[in-house]
Amino acid sequence: MQQGYLETTKNVYKEAAENPNVGLCCTTTPVWQLPGLKIPKRMLEMNYGCGSTVHPRDLVNNPKILYVGVGGGMELLQFSYFSRQIGGVTGVDIVDEMLEASRQNFLEAEKQNPWFRSEFVNLVKGDALHLPIEDSSIDVAAQNCLFNIFKQDDLKKALQEMYRVLKPRGRLVLSDPTCEQDMPQNLQDDERLRALCLSGSLPLKEYIKMITDMGFGTVEIRAKRPYRILDPENYETAELIFIESVEVCAIKDPMPEDGPCVFTGKTAIYYGTDECFDDEKGHVLLPNQPLAVCDKTAGALKVLNRNDVFISESTYFYDGGGCC
Ligand SMILES: C[S@@+](CC[C@H](N)C(=O)[O-])C[C@H]1O[C@@H](n2cnc3c(N)ncnc32)[C@H](O)[C@@H]1O
Repeated sequence: MQQGYLETTKNVYKEAAENPNVGLCCTTTPVWQLPGLKIPKRMLEMNYGCGSTVHPRDLVNNPKILYVGVGGGMELLQFSYFSRQIGGVTGVDIVDEMLEASRQNFLEAEKQNPWFRSEFVNLVKGDALHLPIEDSSIDVAAQNCLFNIFKQDDLKKALQEMYRVLKPRGRLVLSDPTCEQDMPQNLQDDERLRALCLSGSLPLKEYIKMITDMGFGTVEIRAKRPYRILDPENYETAELIFIESVEVCAIKDPMPEDGPCVFTGKTAIYYGTDECFDDEKGHVLLPNQPLAVCDKTAGALKVLNRNDVFISESTYFYDGGGCC
C-alpha cells in the first residue's frame, strides 16, 4: 500500500490541475521568455516550479529529454522550443487530471506558437519512483519542485530511477527548495505542507550528497535564491524558517577516484610572478585568470597555503567552464 503522504500529494495536485493556483509555488525566478515563444495564460498560472530546469547549454546535439512531474507543462513547452521534434520531450506524471490539464495547455500553445505541435510532447502516466522509461535512454532528465516532497527513502528511489534512465554523461537537471535550518518534525510530518513543497526540504549539502551517493560524478549548483518564510504566526514553528530554492545539474560522469566534483561557484586565481601555477593534478592557473574549480580542488589548493593563489567563496551561480 502507498504511504499516506504520496496519496495526499496526488490529491493536492489533482486539485491544482482542476483549479490553477498562481501562488502555489511562488518564485522570483523569471520565466524564460524567448523569441517566438508564447506561454498560454493558464499554463503560466500553473507554473508550480521553484526555479528553471531549462538551460540551452544542456540542449545541444539533439538530446532526448525526460520531464518528471509535468504540472501545467510550461517547462516541457520551453524544452520543446529547443528540441522541435515529434516525441522529443517525454513528460511523466502520476496524476491523470494534471496530464489532462497539460494536454489542453499544449493544444492552446499550438494555437499561439506556429512552430509548436502537441506531438512534440509525449505524455505518459507514471510514477517518479518507478519510471516507465527504458534504461540508459535519456540525455537530459528534469524535475522541478517534486523531489523535495519525497521522504528520504523515496527521494533515493526517485534519484536512482533518474540515474537508471540516463545515458552515460546524461544530465539530471533539478530545481527544489532547500533549507539550512532544522525543519521541525511536526512540519515535516504535515502531509499537506510537504505536498506544497514547504516542509520536505533538506540542507543543500545533504541534498547534494543524496545525488552524489547515487553515482553522479559531477554536480553543478547553478542558482540559489530566497524562496519562502515559515513564520510562527502562520505555521506551527517556534522560530522563523527561511527556505531557499536551488537549480542543480548532476552529470552521469564516472565517479572520480577521489570523490565527486561539486561546483558551487568557487574560483581560483593565481597572482604570482611565474608563467603559471600547475598543481600537477590537471589544473594550470595562468596569472590573474580566474579558473572555476570544484569544491574538492578548492580545498586541495587551499591546504597548500600559498600566498599567490586566491580561492573565492562559493557563489552558488556556476554556469560552466570548470576545471575537471
Ligand atoms: C510542484 S508540482 C511541479 C510541476 C512542474 N514541474 C512545474 O514546475 O510547474 C509537482 C508535479 O509532480 C506531479 N507528481 C506528484 N507526485 C508524483 C509522482 N509520484 N510521480 C510523478 N509525478 C508526480 C504532480 O502531479 C505535479 O504535476
